[in-house]
Amino acid sequence: MASIWARKPIAHLQAEAEGTGSGLKRTLGAGSLVALGIGAIIGAGLFVRTAAAAATSAGPSVTLGFVVAAVGCAFAGLCYAELASMLPIAGSAYTYTYATMGELVAWIIGWDLTLEYALGAATVAIAWSEYLNKLLEIFGIHIPYALCHSPFEVDVVTGAHGIVNIPALGILVVLTLLLVRGIHESAVVNSIIVFVKIAIVILIIGLGWRFIDPANHTPYIPPASEYTDRQGVTHAYGGAMGVLGAAGIVFFAFIGFDAVSTAAQEAKNPKRDMPIAILGSLAVCTVLYVLFAHVLTGLAPVEFFRTTGSEASVAQAIQRAMPGYGWLANFVTVAILGGFSSVILVMLLGQSRVFFSMSRDGLVPKMFSELHPRFKTPYKSNLLFLVFVGAFAAFVPGDVVGDMTSIGTLFAFILVSLGVWVMRVKEPQLARPFRVPAVPLVSLSGAVLCTAMIFGLGWPNWLRLGVWLAIGLVLYVAYGRTHSTLRRGEAASSAAP
Ligand code: ALA
Repeated sequence: MASIWARKPIAHLQAEAEGTGSGLKRTLGAGSLVALGIGAIIGAGLFVRTAAAAATSAGPSVTLGFVVAAVGCAFAGLCYAELASMLPIAGSAYTYTYATMGELVAWIIGWDLTLEYALGAATVAIAWSEYLNKLLEIFGIHIPYALCHSPFEVDVVTGAHGIVNIPALGILVVLTLLLVRGIHESAVVNSIIVFVKIAIVILIIGLGWRFIDPANHTPYIPPASEYTDRQGVTHAYGGAMGVLGAAGIVFFAFIGFDAVSTAAQEAKNPKRDMPIAILGSLAVCTVLYVLFAHVLTGLAPVEFFRTTGSEASVAQAIQRAMPGYGWLANFVTVAILGGFSSVILVMLLGQSRVFFSMSRDGLVPKMFSELHPRFKTPYKSNLLFLVFVGAFAAFVPGDVVGDMTSIGTLFAFILVSLGVWVMRVKEPQLARPFRVPAVPLVSLSGAVLCTAMIFGLGWPNWLRLGVWLAIGLVLYVAYGRTHSTLRRGEAASSAAP
C-alpha cells in the first residue's frame, strides 16, 4: 500500500481531464478573465465585513487592511495560476495538492476548503438575511430579532436575544434546490450581476465622497488598544495589529478570485493573460475596495458600526449620512440581495465539486459523488451540505463564520503557495504554460503574508481552525486512509461533473 505521502501522478490527472471531456476551448481573453474575477469577488466581504473590520479592528485604517490582504492574494493568486495552467483539470487547491504534496496534505486541504466554500456560503447567507430585513423595512415588515439571528447574538439596542436565522436558512434551501435541479451558468445573468455590483460600488464612492466627515477619519489609524465585541471576544484595535486583524477579516472580500485561475485552460494565451487577469482583477477590486471603505468609514463614526449600524451597514450608513439618497440605500439593498445569491450559489457549487473529487478518490464516502438519475447533479452531497451549511447559517453569528472562512482560505493559500515551489523542485521538467516569476521568493512571501493575516485573526480563530483540522485528521485515519483509491491502486476519475 502506498504511503500517506502518495502523490497522484500528473499524467493520471491529465488523462482524467481528457477522459471527462474537460478539453475546454481557449476562448477567454484577458478582459473577460478580469470580468470573471471581479464577478466572483465582490460580495458580502465588501458590503458586510468592511464595517465589521472597522468596528472591531482598525477603524478607518481598514483601507490599509484591504491593501495587505490584496498583496497576500496577489502572491497566492500567481501560484494558483501556475498550478492551474499545469494541471488541465477544472479542480481546485485540492487537486493541485494531491499532485504536489501527497494524499495527506490533499486531504487536509480538501477538508479545509470546506471552511472556504461551505462556511463562506453560510457567511453570505447571513449577510443576505441582514439586507432582506432592510428591504422588508421599506414595506413596513419587520422580522422579529429572535427569528433572524443566532442564539449567540443580542440586540445592542433592545436587548432581544436571537434564536434562529430563518431567512439565512431559507435562501440556502432555495439555492440548494436550484443546484439539485441543475442550473446552467448564464453568461447574461452573470454579466448583469457583475455590472450592477460594480455600479453600486462606484455610485457609493462617487455620491458618498462629499458626505465624508473628516471627524470620522480622525485619527485615521487609531492608537493601539482593545475592543470587546458583542460576543464578549476581545480584539486588538488600532495600530499595526488592528490593520493586520482587519486584513484577515476583509480578506473574505477577495475570496473567489481563484476562480480566475481555474479558468486557466480556457485562456487564449495563459502565459500572458493569467497574470494580467489575476493581478488585474485584484488591482481593480483593491482600488474599488479601498475607496469604498474610505467613504463608508467617513460616513459614520466607528461607534455607529458597532451598534445601530452593525447590520446592513452600507444601507444604514447611507441613510444616516446622505440625506436625499434614500433611493440609493434601497437600490443597494435590492442589488445586494441578487449579488449575494450568486456568490452563495458559486460557493455551494464549489463545495460539492471538491467533495465530488474527494469522493471519486475514495477519501470521502461514495454518496458525495452519486448523481441524481434524472438531473445528473450530486444531489445527496448538495442536500447533506444544506444541513451542514444551514446549521451554521441558522445558529452561528456571521462574524464567527466569516472569520472561519477567512482563516480556512488563508491556510489553503499557504499550502498552494508552497506547493508551487515543491512542484518546481520535484517535477522541474513538466510543461508550465504560466510560470510564476521569482520562485521561491513569491511562494515564501505569499505564505508569510497569509500567515501574518492568520495571526491577526486572533486565538479564537486559531483554535477553531485547529479543532476543524483535528476532526479532519480523525476522519482521514478512520476512513480516507483505508478507502483511498490511489492507495488501493485503483484507477479513479476525480474530475468534477
Ligand atoms: N468575496 C466574496 C464575498 O465577498 C466571497 O462575498
